[in-house]
Formats: sequence, structure tokens, C-alpha cells
Amino acid sequence: MAGVPSVAYPRIHLMCGIVGYVGDKSTIDVLLGGLRRLEYRGYDSAGVAVIDSEGHLSTRKHAGKLQVLVDDLANTPIPQGATGIGHTRWATHGGPTDENAHPHLGDDGKLALIHNGIIENFQELKATLLRDHPETEFTSETDTEVAAHMVGYAYRATKNLTAAMREVVSKLHGAFTLLAVHSDQPGVVVGARRNSPLVIGLGDGENFLGSDVAAFVEHTRRALAIGQDQIVTITPTEVVVTDFGGNTVPTEEFEVTWDASAAEKGGWSSFMAKEITEQPEAIANTLLGRVVDGKVNLPELAALDETLGKIDRLIILGCGTASYAGMVGKYAIERWARIPVEVDLSHEFRYREPVLDDRTLVVSISQSGETMDTLMAVKYATAAGAKTLSICNTQGATIARESDAVIYTHAGPEVAVASTKALVAQVTAIYLLGLHLASIRGTLSAEEIRTQLEDLQEAPDKLRTVLEQHDEIRELAHWMSDTRSVLFLGRHVGFPVALEGALKLKELAYIHAEGFAAGELKHGPIALIEPGQPVFVVVPSPRGTDSMHPKIVSNIQEIRARGARVLAIAEVGDAAVLPFADQVFAIPPSSTFIEPLLAFVPLQIFAMELAAAKGLDVDQPRNLAKSVTVE
Ligand code: M6R
Repeated sequence: MAGVPSVAYPRIHLMCGIVGYVGDKSTIDVLLGGLRRLEYRGYDSAGVAVIDSEGHLSTRKHAGKLQVLVDDLANTPIPQGATGIGHTRWATHGGPTDENAHPHLGDDGKLALIHNGIIENFQELKATLLRDHPETEFTSETDTEVAAHMVGYAYRATKNLTAAMREVVSKLHGAFTLLAVHSDQPGVVVGARRNSPLVIGLGDGENFLGSDVAAFVEHTRRALAIGQDQIVTITPTEVVVTDFGGNTVPTEEFEVTWDASAAEKGGWSSFMAKEITEQPEAIANTLLGRVVDGKVNLPELAALDETLGKIDRLIILGCGTASYAGMVGKYAIERWARIPVEVDLSHEFRYREPVLDDRTLVVSISQSGETMDTLMAVKYATAAGAKTLSICNTQGATIARESDAVIYTHAGPEVAVASTKALVAQVTAIYLLGLHLASIRGTLSAEEIRTQLEDLQEAPDKLRTVLEQHDEIRELAHWMSDTRSVLFLGRHVGFPVALEGALKLKELAYIHAEGFAAGELKHGPIALIEPGQPVFVVVPSPRGTDSMHPKIVSNIQEIRARGARVLAIAEVGDAAVLPFADQVFAIPPSSTFIEPLLAFVPLQIFAMELAAAKGLDVDQPRNLAKSVTVE
């Protein structure tokens, strides 16, 4: 494909959580605590390896959720030690069995290794191993076990775990984070990364490794980001980072702003329930310090100063819920900054040969900052000469590091697989960007910008009043727990809200759900309406200037006439909707761009409560993982 920049894309990738520890705390407790916080990354199986004070390596691993491992370790503990690694898995390669769970062993059981990613050439490597070491026994179907044996044999030759890791990573193709320990080297954990996340937590007399900062935030807020193709060796007192060639590389220390307790469930029935209620704070914290004297204050965009003045187009990229944040952003940025905005799914963008140049700003949105499709789209955009800005929630994440600038959302750790508070924070951040662009381009007056910012600052309080309807929404959800199909309609910024409502219901309650732009109804979807079909309709304010309200009221009448059960999300006291709706969830009067921030919420609660009524795990829906590092 002429003109298409080539960016290597790992074909398949495990989505797993990884933690490593050296120090004098109870290693098992540190590992299990870290895995508990990382379990959102994968929950098919889990395992740990610990080197005890006698220099023996013990491992334990199980298929199933982390709790299976926790219970087993409580019943039959393994010896305590000061060095260990832990893994929670989302399997794509080798089923979720005890045998395939990590860690895997090498060097006659003296080395343990865990892995996030896929080693694409593992079959060839395995053949070479069996040729050179025919005695090698494999106990799993995984590529990881091949790497474990390779590092084990390399260790026998080098007697140094870092050197052994370095020798092996140069032979691996694909994406990986590897962590290894060896019983001959207690007090040492070695990690390596390529296209897969790994961060270092810096402690006092102890150090940590993790897939993200959630792995160790309970113990330290000091973190170091590691670049691609780098190897890290931690001991209780030292952290050494080199490239794959062994050359020392500079590292970037940052302070983790997440509070450890923020990643705890507290007294909530689920992380999702907790995170839904944290949305007012997610908006407020994302605004904090960024609105000064009625103006947007985004010093983090300094690296893009020149670019922002000359861009003539924006492309917003994301997947799933993040892409819906982008859709809302498109309406706002085009309105405010009068600049064309395209929104693309990251995975579609990359393969459609998009036309990019240095006047295009590519804005990627990602809660995790690790979504592989979005990461590779950002790399593609950079290779094609575009400037990149990311909106991320996780500090030190790869997408943030690969972008020219980053606006961090301050939603705090989002643990539930279904995205909620990250979404409202993403919309808030993209609004700030839109108003900043409007200011640079002179498309809104200072007064108009001030008004929009004031509206945003009032959003958290308005959202609190929407949350008060939780019981009412729960009642509806319980009543509808046998429903087999739900439709969602919206117009303008209500359209992405409809799409998000449908996504939430699919992923949490496993119910067929579809979101439509209400204007599309007559072009086909209205044929789906039959008596009793539940339809959520996102109704804009009757006071809005977009004249969307009468149109959506007509749509309601059309579906109602065909027997639909209308569940409206409408401004409190909207008299035009009341006669035609079976139920109304009220949102406080707000301006056009605040409405989606409020209207998302009843739909989140509905999906969560309907899933709960069906007895489903709302935090860890089937087949999903929080951080989607799969193409
Ligand atoms: O971490 P990201 O924001 O990049 O994740 C993007 C999507 O995978 C994510 O929003 C997904 O759609 C959620 N499960 C939706 O609730």
C-alpha cells in the first residue's frame, strides 16, 4: 500500500496484569494486593512465584478468578520470602487452565517467568529449544513457557538474570512484558517490555513492578515510566533500566496522583456502583486548575503551541466508550472552534489509509492509555507526520508517552470493566480542548468561553441530582430483567449517549441493544418497533437553540404509535414528553453540551442494575477485559 506508513502491529496479545516485588513486606500480600487491583486486566487465571529466605522458589497458580488462588494460598500457604512475581491472565492463546496459568518455570524449576503479550515466533523458538535441549519438558500450551525455558538456559550460561533476559528478548518477535525471578538470585526481579505496559514503583528499601500504577499505589506514589524495548532490574535498593543492548537509559520519575483507597471497593456492592457515584468528582477533578479567570488553562499543551495555531482538521480516535466521548467532542469542537472534526474508531482509522499531514491534529482518547488499537493508530499518525494529543486517565501509560502532548483526565482509577467515570472525565477534557481551540482561533468571545466553563463547573452538582434517581432506575431494571432487546435513540449529542447506553447494556447484561440516531428511524430501524419494545429516548432540552426537541418528540410519537414502551431521559418538567413516555428520568436544565454528561448516568445505572438483577458480575463481564490490548 503506497504511502501508508508501516507500523509493526502485534497480531494477538494477551491482556494480563503483572506485578513484581522485592522488599521486606509480606511478598505474598503485596503480590495478591497488586493482582487484586490489576484483576480488571484479565480474570481467567492467576498465579504467583516467591523465593523464600532459604532460596527456594515456590509457585502456585490456578484457573479461575483471583479468589481461587487467594483461597488456596490461605488454606495451604507457600513459604514467605522477599522476592516475588504475580500474574492475572486473560487468555487468548492456550485455554484458561491451571497448566496454562502463569508463572511458567525454567532451569529445572529454579526460574519463574510471567508474561503479558504474545511471542509470535514461539513455534520456531520451541523447535530450536527442543533441538538444542531435547530434554526440555513442556507442561502447557503457552508461548510463555518457551520464553521461561529460554531464559532458564541463558541463565545457566550467564549466571546473571538480567544478562539472560537480554539474550532472550532479542530473539522474541511480538509484544511482551516479561518478569522473571531465579532462586539463585533472591532479591532480584528482572523485567522487559516491548509494546506492552510496565511501570516501576519506587519504595524505601523495596521496589515494585506493575502493568500499571494500580499494582503498587497502595505502597508508593513514586513511579518511573519505562520506554519500549527496555529491561529493568530491581533489587530492594536499586533500579537499573537499560535498552535491549544493555546501555543505561534515562528514566522519567512521576508522582502517582491516585489515592490507594480510590482503587478499593469500600462498602460498595461493585466497583461499577462506586465509580458511577464518583462521576461528579471525576468532572470536578478534571477541571481542577484548568479554569482560571474564566479561561482555559492547559499548560500541558505547550508542546503543541505552534501546531494548534495552524491546524485545519482534527481527527479523534478511540474505541468503545472512549469513541463516544470523541463523538460528543466533535459536536462541541466544531460548534465552538469552527474546525472540521472526524471521529474514527482507532482500528478502522489505521487501515483506511487516512490522509494526514502536519496541519492535522490527531486526538486519541483512552482511559487505560494502553488500548492496542489506539496505541497503534497514534503511532501510525505520528509516522504519517501528524501531531498527536492524547486524553488518558492512567499516568505513565504508553499512549500518553507516545503522544506529543497529553491531557490527563483525573477520574482516579477505574476498575470496573465498564467505563463510567472515565467517560465523563474524557468529555470534560475534550470540552476544555474545544474551548482552548476556540480561544486560539477567536471563534468564541471571552464571554462565551466563560459561560461554557461556568456551565461545566456546575455539571458535578447537576450530576449529583441525577444520581439521586438510582432507586427508581433500579426498580425499572429489576422489572425489565427478562427483556431480550432494548433500543436507544438520540439526536446530536444525544446520539453518542444512545450508542453508549446500548453498549453498556450489551457488555453488562448480555442483552441485545442498539443505539440509533433518531433521524435514521424512518430509514429502517423503525421496522423493529413492535408492541412492548422498550426504547430509551434521549431528549434534549425544550429550551435548546438546536431545535432538536420538537424533532425528537415527533420520533417519540412515531414509535409510541407502533406500540413502543418509551423510557425518556428528559429535562425535568418537560411537558411535551410526559404524555408519551411510559417513564421519565429527569435531568436538571442544562446547556446542550452539559446534557450528555448527565444523560449517560441513568443509562449506566440501568445497565448495571439489570445485570445485577440477572445475577451477573457487573465488574467483570464475560469475555471482556478492561485493558484491550488485542488487535
Ligand atoms: O482504555 P480505553 O479507554 O482505551 O478503552 C476503550 C474501550 O475498550 C472501553 O471504553 C470499552 O468500550 C468499555 N468496556 C466500555 O464500557
